[in-house]
Amino acid sequence: MNKKTVISRSVEDTHELAREVVARQKTGIICLFGDLGAGKTTFVQGLAKALGIADEPQSPTFAYQRIYDGMYHYDFYRLSGPDYGFLEDILHACTEVLVVIEWPERMLKYLPNERIEIMIEYIDEHSRKFILNT
Ligand SMILES: Nc1ncnc2c1ncn2[C@@H]1O[C@H](COP(=O)(O)OP(=O)(O)O)[C@@H](O)[C@H]1O
Ligand SMILES: [Mg+2]
Repeated sequence: MNKKTVISRSVEDTHELAREVVARQKTGIICLFGDLGAGKTTFVQGLAKALGIADEPQSPTFAYQRIYDGMYHYDFYRLSGPDYGFLEDILHACTEVLVVIEWPERMLKYLPNERIEIMIEYIDEHSRKFILNT
């Protein structure tokens, strides 16, 4: 496992970091950890841009799953327990596209170990600490 810490000082920095991740891999699972407002969805928007997706992913309010061309975006904030339907979708999709999951905690023990984990910590209004385990 490879651990890397990056300080982002702007949304643009966060998008640049997402671009670097996409440059390395366009399939597989990315788990995003961090409190509300940490910057998970902002990072996902950077992934989408880097993948050439025209739509801008939003924090899904009541949607757990959003499917784009080349990316599946999950937000399990409101999930109360593991969902095996989503798990099956994730396992199929991750060989073909990038699967990115906000609030992966509820599903973590069912997900393949082969995944990128990114922890995002709030530093101040414009700065965030990204810890990447790849
Ligand atoms: N360096 C940064 N990286 C990412 N987001 C940032 C940064 N600085 C400020 N922000 C702001 O923080 C907020 C993060 O919100 P969001 O990405 O929806 O968080 P989450 O999905 O983790 O709840 C956005 O309003 C974004 O503009
Ligand atoms: Mg979010």
